[in-house]
Amino acid sequence: MKNFLVVAFSLVAFCQSNYAQKALDNKMEKKIDSLMALMTLEEKVGQMNQYNGFWNVTGPVPKEGDASNKYEHLKKGWVGSMLNVRGVEEVRKVQKIVVEESRLGIPLIIGFDVIHGYRTQSPIPLAESASWDLEAIEASAAMAAEEAAASGITWTFAPMVDISRDARWGRVMEGAGEDPYLGSQIAKARINGFQGKDLSASNTIAATAKHFAGYGFSESGRDYNTVDVGTSTLYNIIFPPFMAAVEADVKTFMNSFNILNGIPATGNSFLQREVLKGEWDYKGFVVTDWGSMTEMITHGYSKDGESAAESAANAGSDMDMESYLYVKHLKNLVNEGKVSLDKVDDAVRRILRVKFELGLFDDPYKYCNEEREKTVVGSDKNMEIALGMAEKSIVLLKNNDQLLPLKKNGINIAVIGSLAADKNSPLGSWRLASKDNTAVSVLEGLKKYKGNKLSYEKGVELVKGQETFINELDINTTDRTGIAEAVEVAKNKDVVVMVLGEHGFQSGEGRSRTNLDLSGLQQELLEAVYAVNSNIVLVLMNGRPLTINWANDNVPAIVEAWQLGSRSGDAIAKILYGDYNPSGKLPMTFPKNVGQVPLYYNYMSTGRPSNPGDNLVFWSHYTDEANTPLYEFGHGLSYTSFSYDKLKLSANSLNKTGELKVSFDLSNTGKYEGKEVVQLYIQDLFASRARPVKELKDFKMVSLKPGETKNVSFTISAKKLEFYSANNKWEAETGDFKVFIGGSSATQLESDFTLKN
Ligand code: NOJ
Repeated sequence: MKNFLVVAFSLVAFCQSNYAQKALDNKMEKKIDSLMALMTLEEKVGQMNQYNGFWNVTGPVPKEGDASNKYEHLKKGWVGSMLNVRGVEEVRKVQKIVVEESRLGIPLIIGFDVIHGYRTQSPIPLAESASWDLEAIEASAAMAAEEAAASGITWTFAPMVDISRDARWGRVMEGAGEDPYLGSQIAKARINGFQGKDLSASNTIAATAKHFAGYGFSESGRDYNTVDVGTSTLYNIIFPPFMAAVEADVKTFMNSFNILNGIPATGNSFLQREVLKGEWDYKGFVVTDWGSMTEMITHGYSKDGESAAESAANAGSDMDMESYLYVKHLKNLVNEGKVSLDKVDDAVRRILRVKFELGLFDDPYKYCNEEREKTVVGSDKNMEIALGMAEKSIVLLKNNDQLLPLKKNGINIAVIGSLAADKNSPLGSWRLASKDNTAVSVLEGLKKYKGNKLSYEKGVELVKGQETFINELDINTTDRTGIAEAVEVAKNKDVVVMVLGEHGFQSGEGRSRTNLDLSGLQQELLEAVYAVNSNIVLVLMNGRPLTINWANDNVPAIVEAWQLGSRSGDAIAKILYGDYNPSGKLPMTFPKNVGQVPLYYNYMSTGRPSNPGDNLVFWSHYTDEANTPLYEFGHGLSYTSFSYDKLKLSANSLNKTGELKVSFDLSNTGKYEGKEVVQLYIQDLFASRARPVKELKDFKMVSLKPGETKNVSFTISAKKLEFYSANNKWEAETGDFKVFIGGSSATQLESDFTLKN
């Protein structure tokens, strides 16, 4: 009876809240209707126009167009949004122009790339993804949103949910790696973090799922390059995180620079109208990427600016970022009947809805509070959140003879590498609102542990000259001064901590690489130091998988520390001294050789996957490199060790409405308390479209004390087995499956089951 009442009451509450939500929605739609009834066509087009601010740029500045006088356009109500305007003072200035001087005073939505923090920098997104800790990732995004919102920003161009299998592509630093399931969970966590439960609260902002679609599959990993993927990859690999974003009610989408099967994403109505706004019934709005509308001309798709605007509007691009083409042509296109007024109305309605939800119509200055800005931005509390996230993001790749953790007292340590003292590079690539040189360096972090004697030498410089978001970096490949000193310092030390890798601006937008080795002269430095002292802990700082075969063959301990943000050095020191036991797992495969790329764990079996023996060449392989990676997806060690045992399935089959329980014992067999990310993979053995050899379908984080064993379980239902089939629909097909359990995609335990009707 009691239970019945609880259920009944929650049902009533649910219906009431649902009802209340509907009433609110209706009220808002009515307000939008009344506002739209007042708007001229020019003002409607204005809402679809986004200008860059007057200061920073995050893309090439257009040569032509009609933004000659942004102030005039703001006053006329011809601008619906601005990007790269930040800080309460600046936001208030532009908001004031539209609110006080334009006819209808419709507030601007202010966009900014809040990618891994605003002032306080969290680890780069790829690093955060290595934590597999959805709560922490959500909290990190919420922290970034709080700081951005306190600075007048109402909209972030994040999360980037592009799946990528190509470490040459610099933007892998901005994503969640190679797996669609992990990527989907992380997409939701980030969106929930940015948007919170109430978008109108003054500490939440609208999020963007980008780049729709296919951008992570740029050919040869060269940024902005052509994309050509088939249906199976598009639906089963690229789409899932975008679908998860829609499920999480992400308020906006951004399309991508690339063409997809010959049609630029910005003019692609299959992607935007048929799939996104059709099949997925998406209600938010789509912004183009920077200048991507004009770029349809360069792609050889549009004949001129006018036809580019026509294709974009018809294809469902609702807002033009920095092409200046809607503001110039859209009114005429409507008047000439080339774009229907309905389509414009639909776009404007979507944009206004987000502005209403943000509460901008109640108070256009609600995100402009100087006092809040002062107390929130860069606060101690946020710095602690960044530290917690950084510790969780580190991956222990190798630890022979338990060289780590280091003793806290009585040893002599050499610290080598210019990145060890670098306070800028750890801030990562998308850190436009941070202050240069404000990260805690590894050296500073280590110095806080007073029991050991530290000696530092840079060895070699990594970068010469300026370090900026928009300019090429000059990597040092000639100046070897410092190597001899580093070698001298390394001699006779108990341990050498070498911090090597990439600069924070070597990955990110426009930062593709053909060579994934340690940059510049760092490999030479590593080998020179190794010759006098092989007791090396290599701390890697990088924004993408690197090829570090030599280090893996020779160096006893390797710690993947990515670019960890404002508290980088503190987190690394805690890991090296064992005050945090590493728990991260790789979200992307590390290749042995750049020639293997794209290399990923969820590949399709070829018809000839294994060596036929007898020295025959007729199998899918290289003659000069193995097919296997250096470190597989999901790999990551701990200072303790875990064992997997006693895999049990509750039945050997399930039907389409049923469930199957997969359980096993996880034991901590080492000396430290630790956390393990246990992973569940499946293989669909035969299907209407061939399926990958393994697919991640679930994961859990389990904490264990030394000697402790826990029984862990997962549930498999038909929903988990769905894929986009040859019938062009999402379905689970009956047949045989394998299930794998383990601490990485290499997995330890295996069993099988059958899906029946
Ligand atoms: C271009 C990038 O591709 C996109 O991700 C970013 O949000 C915009 N520039 C705005 O800076």
